[in-house]
Amino acid sequence: MTPGYSRSVPQMIIMDVDTGIDDSLALLYLLASPEAEIAGIAATAGNVPAAQVAANNLAWLDVCRAPQIEVALGAAEPLAIPLRTTEDTHGPQGVGYAELPPSARRLSERSAARLWVDLVREHPGEIVGLCTGPLTNLALALRIEPRLPQLLGRLVIMGGAFNHPGNTTPTNEWNVHVDPEAAKEVFDAFSAAPADRRPLVCALDITETIEMRPEHVALLAERAGSTPIELVSAADGPEMRSAASNPIIRYFTDAVRFYFDFHLQYDQGYLAHMHDPFAAAIALDPGLAITKPATVDVELAGTITRATTVADWAGMWGREPNADIVIGTDPQEFFERMISRVGDFARAVYPESPGRSR
Ligand code: RIB
Ligand code: CA
Repeated sequence: MTPGYSRSVPQMIIMDVDTGIDDSLALLYLLASPEAEIAGIAATAGNVPAAQVAANNLAWLDVCRAPQIEVALGAAEPLAIPLRTTEDTHGPQGVGYAELPPSARRLSERSAARLWVDLVREHPGEIVGLCTGPLTNLALALRIEPRLPQLLGRLVIMGGAFNHPGNTTPTNEWNVHVDPEAAKEVFDAFSAAPADRRPLVCALDITETIEMRPEHVALLAERAGSTPIELVSAADGPEMRSAASNPIIRYFTDAVRFYFDFHLQYDQGYLAHMHDPFAAAIALDPGLAITKPATVDVELAGTITRATTVADWAGMWGREPNADIVIGTDPQEFFERMISRVGDFARAVYPESPGRSR
């Protein structure tokens, strides 16, 4: 059964993340969305090592005073090549300048791949998978359970770049760059998905139109009733920390400011591309996207093009489409949803009057 986005019961979601500053906001977005039920979180190595990804998610669950949610550790390395991480992009621990209190929550006993396999077998057709990191653990899950494309309700992937420059090499995007073999195995396997349940792919073509600016962070703080309202700027030094009274706002402000600095350093302006929370919004409401079907494959052998995602829009390869690529959206609508949801959530989690919460 295709997951009914207008269902009266919450949509079960598996998050597979490499948290990560924007992965962090994807988690906040889903925690803040009553129509979402996070069935489990797979910690995938990418922005930072898998163990740090797992620790970041456990810590965010504490900050959000969230109920028990399973966090499963993923493979330490990609399928075929050594792990490459990017602390220069996401900070030494993957959450920018934020210093999240370590969590006492326990990691799942099972691996990230087992989490995928067990959950889709338990809830056939019911779960939406959201991948906002490399596809290593989903590929490992597919090797265990080849029926996964039929057992999963829908797959949403943040990854790739099609008619758009890469962000890691001139033609490839970070999540695919880290583990191109896994990306190819996933796209090949999902060629078997029913036409109405092809993976929804949020590539850089669309996610680089989702430009968070300091004003968005200020609006988020205001919606949360947090004080003071801070307008971060490039003039803030790396040692600066938010004084926001609401901890969710405080830690997110510290996290995203690092991302603003990174984008400015690479001449993109004092902004931050919100790749992963956009994909999370699509996972909850594909109606936010205009999509176009294509057959996607991943270059593995190219010397300068390895890990490039290629979309055959016109059927030149004679292969059925295996992806619905997001080619249009309304960024303003996304930011309105994100600010209202996460702002109201932060206010509800910390109803203490404005002034510094513990
Ligand atoms: O290329 C952007 C993607 O790579 C995002 O998911 C970001 O978090 C990193 O994982
Ligand atoms: Ca990510």
